[in-house]
Amino acid sequence: MKEEKIVVLGTGGTIAGRAASAADNIGYQAGEIPVSELLGDVPVPAGFAVEAVQVAQIDSKDMSDDVWRRLLQVTQRHLVRPDVHGLVVTHGTDTLEETAYLLQRVLNPAKPVVLVSAMRPATATLRDGPQNLADGLRLAATPGACGVVAVCAGRVHSALDVRKVHNHRFDAFDSGDAGPVAALEEGQLTLWRPWPQTPENFQPGLLDRLLAAAAWPRVEWITSHGGQSGAVVRALLLQNQAATENRPLRGLVVAGTGNGTLHADLLAALLEAKASGVEVWRTTRCANGRVIEGADCPIPATPLPPAKARLELMLRLL
Ligand code: SIN
Repeated sequence: MKEEKIVVLGTGGTIAGRAASAADNIGYQAGEIPVSELLGDVPVPAGFAVEAVQVAQIDSKDMSDDVWRRLLQVTQRHLVRPDVHGLVVTHGTDTLEETAYLLQRVLNPAKPVVLVSAMRPATATLRDGPQNLADGLRLAATPGACGVVAVCAGRVHSALDVRKVHNHRFDAFDSGDAGPVAALEEGQLTLWRPWPQTPENFQPGLLDRLLAAAAWPRVEWITSHGGQSGAVVRALLLQNQAATENRPLRGLVVAGTGNGTLHADLLAALLEAKASGVEVWRTTRCANGRVIEGADCPIPATPLPPAKARLELMLRLL
């Protein structure tokens, strides 16, 4: 029987991190160990062969449009191969939820694309990376699986819902009120919800537009808090007026309090931003829940959490 392929794309992160001592779980450099080496002892599902491709080698806190652009391009190149059953992307935990959203929203893959991460570096004696990677391969080989998911500590999260919720625990991710898609325990998959479906706002051709754009629209994200003055927004607007600014601000996402409510002084500055042509969206800084739009605020609300909302607004402004 012909072997099917699982392509593993490496981008760095703690899962590829190296510390000076095997006892050190905190003082390490992320994005050091090649993805081919990470796969070393990890069991490959029967009937599958694995190909490793190093796309980037970064700490995901430093994720950039350039790395996202490359990842989208390489992911799509392997998705269209008839011999490829699914993909795994090794990634840092810090911006994983953003990459997951972008891949699902832009590529809407009919095959599984599984983001795999770890909370301890690859050099740690008690590391979590190999189990997560084995789970990632298992999911990428699963018949009928599709869309972008993240697997961590035995939980499978949809790209549309996943968020990092803990800075240290092995199960650092959560899907909020939606809950995980599945559990993966000792290789046993229990599916609780359908695999990620085509996002309502899916636009075929978006990948080509993103790859053709010289630069992606600049969107910043700020937060409403006690003692707000609106000074950050006004500084951004001043920068926009400067003749030297070659990447003007096109959009702002504001994480409001509670149901997306905004400090009065911040709201005044945001209305100035809107009047100057900057698209402004508001969401909530609460860890869970979605803003429910009322008639009380002139800034439109999005149900997405801030990190995903920033990417969505960027895509709308493309
Ligand atoms: C990163 O996001 O690259 C570093 C942190 C992590 O992977 O947990």
